[in-house]
Amino acid sequence: MSEVIAALLPATRIEVDNGPGFTVGPNDDTLLRAALRAGLAFPYECSVGGCGACRFELLEGVVHTLWEGAPGLSERDRKRGKRLACQSHPQGDARIRVRLGSEADKPAVLPRRITATLTDRRAITDDMVELRLKLANAPTFLAGQYALLYPPGVTGARAYSMSHLDQGNGEWRFIVRRTPSGRGSTVMCTELPVGATLDIDGPYGHAWLRPSPRDAVCVAGGSGLGPMLSIARGVLAENSARRVHFFLGLRQEAELGAAAELQTLIGERLSATVVLSSPGNPSDWSGATGFVHAEVERQLAPGLGTFDHYMAGPPPMIDAMQDLLMVRHQVPFEQIRFDRYV
Ligand SMILES: Cc1cc2nc3c(=O)[nH]c(=O)nc-3n(C[C@H](O)[C@H](O)[C@H](O)COP(=O)(O)OP(=O)(O)OC[C@H]3O[C@@H](n4cnc5c(N)ncnc54)[C@H](O)[C@@H]3O)c2cc1C
Ligand code: FES
Repeated sequence: MSEVIAALLPATRIEVDNGPGFTVGPNDDTLLRAALRAGLAFPYECSVGGCGACRFELLEGVVHTLWEGAPGLSERDRKRGKRLACQSHPQGDARIRVRLGSEADKPAVLPRRITATLTDRRAITDDMVELRLKLANAPTFLAGQYALLYPPGVTGARAYSMSHLDQGNGEWRFIVRRTPSGRGSTVMCTELPVGATLDIDGPYGHAWLRPSPRDAVCVAGGSGLGPMLSIARGVLAENSARRVHFFLGLRQEAELGAAAELQTLIGERLSATVVLSSPGNPSDWSGATGFVHAEVERQLAPGLGTFDHYMAGPPPMIDAMQDLLMVRHQVPFEQIRFDRYV
């Protein structure tokens, strides 16, 4: 839709039952993003239909569902009339019921949708690349946040986390792993030519670096490396003595190129442990093996409660870390922040 036509169309008004209202502009693609752009503490995690955190109930009005089969809703949710705000586009004014979060859950930076240019692609491993995008009039972002990228020709957005610190120059960097038969990551890792443009929306996410007197533990599984590098860089850039204990879980030696990204950060304030879950030749690998959460426990228990914990990676790793920290070591919830790569 052209911007001129869009400006002439009336914005849609959404009322939250017992809460504030917000408008969805003609160019705002989902109800969740409009709510966040309005500064509301609308609950969410992934923004891409995978986690179910943005469930709401439609009380009045008509809403178009962008992705009917989104795994964030169970059959039970669907039978009970639940919907996902990140997959809902209102067709007119509507009233919804959702439990909004507290003041602390409001977006730290209001997200925007803009055009970006792919300016560089660098191989890190056989299936992992670093991408650099240049954004015109970019908003700021905080260490650990992510953006939604719209790979051309692919249905839906893909979430990728920024891997560095905001320099204020509109360059956003990402570490992306190509998943076998994954459409979005294949376009971003191999098909999109340098110089091409694409839409990007952000920043999003709650797992950003908070000021704290505690040392930080960063746990990354595979491409979860990106946001953990950003968090680690953020801690090291502070004028403080805070230390970082960095744990990187990889599968095999072929992925060790990812560990090289960490090398320049290792020093007095950052220690790094690489854990291979299934080394090809165990007798040639002298480092840690097994699950990364078990290595975190081996090195840092029983003092886990004295740290802030940041983590990003596949759901089984996040589940295992949550069990370790919250159930077995009673680490307070506010010391734990994560991105689950659903
Ligand atoms: C918060 C967050 C941060 C992430 N950060 C990174 C990162 O820094 N680096 C990295 O490599 N990976 C990251 N991921 C994973 C990444 O977003 C993709 O899931 C992964 O690259 C696989 O995408 P694909 O297109 O290759 O696979 P596909 O199987 O083609 O697509 C899977 C993704 O597409 C969405 N999707 C599938 N079908 C539809 C549809 N019909 N309509 C709308 N959406 C659809 C799914 O929700 C899922 O996100 C992150 C995920 C999340 C949730
Ligand atoms: S935020 Fe909507 S399903 Fe995850």
